[in-house]
Amino acid sequence: MKLYRLIYTSDKFEYLGLADLREILAESEKNNAKLGITGLLLVLDKKFFQVLEGPSTALNTLYEKIMRDLRHKNPNLLSYTQIHDRQFKEWSARGVNLASMNPQMASLLIKKYGESESGIAIPEDPWLAFSLLYDIYSSIHLSEWADTTALPDPVAAPPEKVLINYQKYRVLVVEDDTVVRRIILKMLQQIGFRYIGEADNGASALQEVDKIPPDLILCDIEMKPMDGLSFLQVLRKNQGDLCPKFIFLTGHTEATIINCAYELGVDAFIIKPVRATQLRYQINQVVSQLDAG
Ligand SMILES: Cc1cc2nc3c(=O)[nH]c(=O)nc-3n(C[C@H](O)[C@H](O)[C@H](O)COP(=O)(O)O)c2cc1C
Repeated sequence: MKLYRLIYTSDKFEYLGLADLREILAESEKNNAKLGITGLLLVLDKKFFQVLEGPSTALNTLYEKIMRDLRHKNPNLLSYTQIHDRQFKEWSARGVNLASMNPQMASLLIKKYGESESGIAIPEDPWLAFSLLYDIYSSIHLSEWADTTALPDPVAAPPEKVLINYQKYRVLVVEDDTVVRRIILKMLQQIGFRYIGEADNGASALQEVDKIPPDLILCDIEMKPMDGLSFLQVLRKNQGDLCPKFIFLTGHTEATIINCAYELGVDAFIIKPVRATQLRYQINQVVSQLDAG
């Protein structure tokens, strides 16, 4: 069976949380073993740096899937080559943080590969890129890696202890796709919310807000006649600081849209397709502020 190795870098989605990273780690752990894929995923300050080795069909299918993933952008394929043997015999994923790395290891890597403002520089040269990944992989498996995992092990991560009385909060879901709206309503019920309103665009959402003011709004961005950004803008104008907590549900990761939403005071983003773990995590972050306030 012919084996291939590919190496790429990409930019992490700016607002990626620990829960998203844990989810990527858990998915990779589960799928790669089944697909016969080994390699290493490094999570740097602003970038992902990944090497994957395996049979061509499995490798190509997985790479296409990863490229469609909205949790990162601007992929840069550094190399794709046929190999005789695997150099990365296992699958591993690590958060790379120079500050928490064995100091000798950190200075060695910087000397060899150079430093960027956010840590070790990722070489553009395919051979050097492979060499850096292999140095880190070897050190992980030689146990020379002094507690480098900025990311907790997804399996061993302690369950989040959040005691939130969801029943006392009213949520409004604004989403024009009926099927997606239904799925989100179901997930919210499973989390424990009892008062859940719905609207299919910003204009009807404004009417809902007037009828029964929500504590939390989950809102799509692209809708007609009024989109999510305009809805939030009107809400801010009308209610100022009394505006409910606001989370955008979006497939958009363009900086202009994200920045505009932040200027309007959005509290969080959930990237579509909405996953139950991500929904619960972001809601907990936002609702615990309501509980505290
Ligand atoms: C930077 C990055 C690296 C990823 N690496 C892998 C990987 O090695 N293996 C994997 O199965 N999924 C990986 N994923 C997640 C996939 O894009 C996808 O969400 C996952 O395979 C779940 O697909 P499924 O729902 O079909 O199981 C990665 C995602 C990102 C953003």
